[in-house]
Amino acid sequence: MYNQPMLREDALTGKVILVTGGGTGLGRAMSEYFLKLGAKVVIASRKLPVLEKTAQELENATGGNVLPLACDVRKYHEVQKTLETVLEKWGKIDILVNNAAGNFISPTERLSHKAFDVVVGIVLQGTYNFTLAVGKHWIATKQKGTILNIVTTYSWTGSGYVVPSACAKAGVLAMTRSLAVEWAKYGIRSNAIAPGPFPTKGAWDRLFPPALSKKLDPAQRVPLKRVGEHQELANLAAYLVSDFSAYVNGEVITIDGGEWLSGAGEFSGLELIPSEMWDEIEKSVRQANKSKPEPDTKSNS
Ligand code: HXC
Ligand code: NAP
Repeated sequence: MYNQPMLREDALTGKVILVTGGGTGLGRAMSEYFLKLGAKVVIASRKLPVLEKTAQELENATGGNVLPLACDVRKYHEVQKTLETVLEKWGKIDILVNNAAGNFISPTERLSHKAFDVVVGIVLQGTYNFTLAVGKHWIATKQKGTILNIVTTYSWTGSGYVVPSACAKAGVLAMTRSLAVEWAKYGIRSNAIAPGPFPTKGAWDRLFPPALSKKLDPAQRVPLKRVGEHQELANLAAYLVSDFSAYVNGEVITIDGGEWLSGAGEFSGLELIPSEMWDEIEKSVRQANKSKPEPDTKSNS
């Protein structure tokens, strides 16, 4: 059921949605579902051939309209140009999905300052570039709009080995919550999705390379013991950008099968205890309860 489309078919009819990084992975999956729900979709990233191929495939699959535009999200003038092209072609933009990202695993002391810059540039600067350009346009033209930012669960916990990404995603989450309040008066909503592991080539090549994936199966870290399916993320994204979520503003919704809480819970590791051991453990805990005197809670003044 969770890998089935969820919203009613006309949920995004007439909307123009811009998805950064929409040529691959989760951006592509969200774009495909937005098209099925009646939206026109702009996909923007660096590699035009990839975008053009995706655009053709998505149009064939859905019968919708896709506009592929080359844009490096780190460069404000390219972002501004992208917005102008969308306005020329389709006259408006209703929804911005900041999905483009760069990331790789590395001990932080091995990183050059450029390696740090490149990830923060794509994730945080890219998100504020598009948010600022599109937000200014909405405010100037008195148009309502919706922003959806794709973050991660380590936006609030932090994570070793992906420190530039953790810093950048934390910034994006702060921006999401800040603008949800500041720009609500203009009818602009800001929300975020924090996915757990969803297999994509982009993420898996850089975060779970073969040498590592033999040792670390991401599904095993998830209490539900599976990774995410693209359609279930697309369902959540479609709801958050649609008018059905009109009163949801400043929220970050985690979709990770319980993964980050499992990492945080002091006793989550007890799931490794086989059920037959629990008789023994219970006996010993009950025994300790009997033999230990109650702690003296009264002070001897
Ligand atoms: C150390 C590295 C490195 C590595 C690159 N660098 N890879 N340092 N370890 N593995 C350094 C380079 O040496 C260089 O610094 C600097 O980073 C810039 O590298 P370039 O290759 O020139 O950059 P560029 O071609 O712009 O590529 C950007 C990229 C790349 C971020 C490095 O991975 C990329 O294009 N990524 C886009 C897609 C992506 O990352 N998708 C995954 C998102 S997944 P010097 O000093 O040598 O010049 C995600 C999910 C998180 O975010 C949560 C999962 C559960
Ligand atoms: P992906 O396929 O690698 O997507 C990243 C996209 O960003 C690519 O399409 C890439 O296109 C684009 N991009 C990178 N640098 C750019 C730049 N400078 N300008 C414009 N676009 C740029 O990876 P994904 O897994 O689908 O990730 C999508 C989003 O989900 C990211 O925000 C990621 O952090 C988040 N996320 C993913 C997972 C997961 O398990 N997959 C988990 C948590 C969060 P070009 O190369 O053409 O530029």
